[in-house]
Amino acid sequence: MDKKIMLLFLCCIYHQHTIVSSALQVGFYGNKCRGAESIVQQEVQRWFSTDRSITAALLRMYFHDCFVRGCDASILIDSKNTQIKQSEKDAGPNQSVRGYELIDRIKSRLEATCPMTVSCADIIALATRDSVALGGGPKYSISTGRRDGLVSNPADVNLPGPSLTVQEALKFFTNKKFSLNDMVTLLGAHTVGNTHCSLFQDRLSRFDGSMDRNLFAKLSRTCAARGDPSVSLDQSTSFIVDNEFFKQTRLKKGILKIDQELASDRSTAGIVANFSVNPKAFEQAFANALIKLGNTEVVEGRLGEIRKNCRAFNPSQQKRQPLPPRKSFPPRKPKRPPPRNVSPRPTFSIPFLEP
Ligand code: HEM
Ligand SMILES: *[C@@H]1O[C@H](CO)[C@@H](O)[C@H](O)[C@H]1NC(C)=O
Ligand SMILES: *[C@@H]1O[C@H](CO)[C@@H](O)[C@H](O)[C@H]1NC(C)=O
Repeated sequence: MDKKIMLLFLCCIYHQHTIVSSALQVGFYGNKCRGAESIVQQEVQRWFSTDRSITAALLRMYFHDCFVRGCDASILIDSKNTQIKQSEKDAGPNQSVRGYELIDRIKSRLEATCPMTVSCADIIALATRDSVALGGGPKYSISTGRRDGLVSNPADVNLPGPSLTVQEALKFFTNKKFSLNDMVTLLGAHTVGNTHCSLFQDRLSRFDGSMDRNLFAKLSRTCAARGDPSVSLDQSTSFIVDNEFFKQTRLKKGILKIDQELASDRSTAGIVANFSVNPKAFEQAFANALIKLGNTEVVEGRLGEIRKNCRAFNPSQQKRQPLPPRKSFPPRKPKRPPPRNVSPRPTFSIPFLEP
């Protein structure tokens, strides 16, 4: 073939390459594992029918997964399954992330139906989506095709704390390309679930007027008990995904300091006011924000792997497990090599285009 024509030919194919390389798509498992999404849905539903708190567990797991090295299921790796015998689960904010057993249950059914096909990262995204719908929140479609990461290191965990100001918390979100609006919307996830008293104890040390007086008295009593009890983040409808969280914060009934500040901070009060009177606006915004969260630094194409067991890297990847933690604060970035423009579809792989 003439050299010029050959080049043109390659350019076209290469171009097509880059188009198909945005691998995430709604219904990614359609022909690869028919029924994948319904298996996830069935198992979430089965769990939800005896434990409605699973919605909160999954929302938090999804956030903690996606905000640390991207949505790559790095949060699921057990400490004993890394060379350094530590994983993200050993980091400070790990405590009380729950729902691992449900992910295991879903994964084992998927492995029985279509082995090594559905990633653990996608299971988290899909199960969260289904649990939100069961909890009364928005129903939405979400792209799949995420792959599982090859690293889980407690040194990478850098999540916002509950006593930050709005501006301080926002830095964590803008680092991940989320806006102030996104942050307020996502914090609406605190419409479900619990917090340990120790994580807002500072607000109970003296009455400063930022908390409703009756709630202050009630929580002071509850939290005086031994063993760091937990209380609902949304004191009104603690199992329902609705805009009640925003209404509560406007009544000074937010629990975490950051939650309460959303209602009073000049930069966020308007957004909170909007969501508190407009349930549809919150539903819509919440669905979009959860979809966006699920696109955070995803592993796709040929990177990563599809784990057999969500708690462990595949054996063939042993050699690529993390080295002992280096002193790293702030965490090293770039955290992983930039995605290569490769398609997971073999039809387009041209050996001599690969580096
Ligand atoms: C500034 C950002 C955030 C801070 C400071 C924060 C802080 C916290 C804290 C301190 C707890 C209590 C944990 C415990 O008691 O061990 C909690 C629980 C929770 N968080 Fe957040 N969070 C943030 C953002 C998010 C986001 C973006 C989501 C999800 C989209 C989320 C979902 C949840 C849920 C559902 C719970 C309850 C978990 C359960 O009941 O098991 N949080 N959060
Ligand atoms: C979470 O991290 C803390 C502090 O590093 C550790 O003591 C605790 O055992 C961890 N919890 C779990 C469930 O791994
Ligand atoms: C309320 O929030 C919705 C969803 O984010 C947005 O489209 C709308 O413009 C907001 N309305 C006001 C008055 O801010």
